[in-house]
Amino acid sequence: MKIGIVEGSVREGRLATTVARWVADAAARRADVDHEVLALADFDLPFVDTPTPPAALGAQYPYESVQRWSTAIDACDALILVTPEYNHGVPGALKNAIDWLSGELQNKPAALVSYGADGGVRAVEQWRQILANFNMHVVRSQVALNLFTEFDDGAIAPTERSSGALDTLLEQLIASASLRAGK
Ligand SMILES: Cc1cc2nc3c(=O)[nH]c(=O)nc-3n(C[C@H](O)[C@H](O)[C@H](O)COP(=O)(O)O)c2cc1C
Repeated sequence: MKIGIVEGSVREGRLATTVARWVADAAARRADVDHEVLALADFDLPFVDTPTPPAALGAQYPYESVQRWSTAIDACDALILVTPEYNHGVPGALKNAIDWLSGELQNKPAALVSYGADGGVRAVEQWRQILANFNMHVVRSQVALNLFTEFDDGAIAPTERSSGALDTLLEQLIASASLRAGK
C-alpha cells in the first residue's frame, strides 16, 4: 500500500516541506506502508485553462506536468494532504492541483494535516467539502499544528498530542485503504 504525502504549498521557504517530512517520518516507522512525498512545487502545474473541464478529459491532459501529477496521484492508494491555511481557506496552488484531477481521486481515502495560527482548521473544513465531491473518504482524525506553539524557528516542535494524532490518522487512513482494497 502506498501513501502519497502531498506538500501543499509552493512558496519559497514554505513550512509545508518541514511538515511533510515529519509526516513522512511517521509513515516510515510503519512496516505496512510505503510512502512518497509529492511536492507540488516540483510539478510546476499551470492554472486549469482547458476549454473542456479536466474531469471530462479522461486523464489525457494537454500538459506534461499535469500528466505527471495525474500519474503520481493515481499510483497512490491513499493521500495525506499537508495544507496551510491562506486567508481563512484552502491554498490556491493546492486547490488548482486538485481541480486538474477527477478519476485519480474518486473514492480514494485521504487525511488532512494542517498548520496555521489556529492550526489551519478552517482550510481543513473546506477541504472536507471539496474532497467529498470526489467521493473520497476523509478520515476523522486530523492534525492541526499551531504556528506559535508547535514550530521553533522554522523547525517543527509538535506536542505529544499532535504526534499521537498523527499516529491515529495513519491508523485510520491505512484501515480505510485496506477496506477499499478488500484486505
Ligand atoms: C497568502 C497567505 C495567507 C495567509 N493566511 C493565513 C490565514 O488565514 N490563517 C493562518 O493561520 N495563517 C495564514 N497565513 C500564514 C501561514 O499560515 C504561514 O505563512 C505558513 O507558513 C504558510 O504555509 P507555507 O509556509 O507552507 O506556505 C497566510 C500566509 C499567506 C502566504
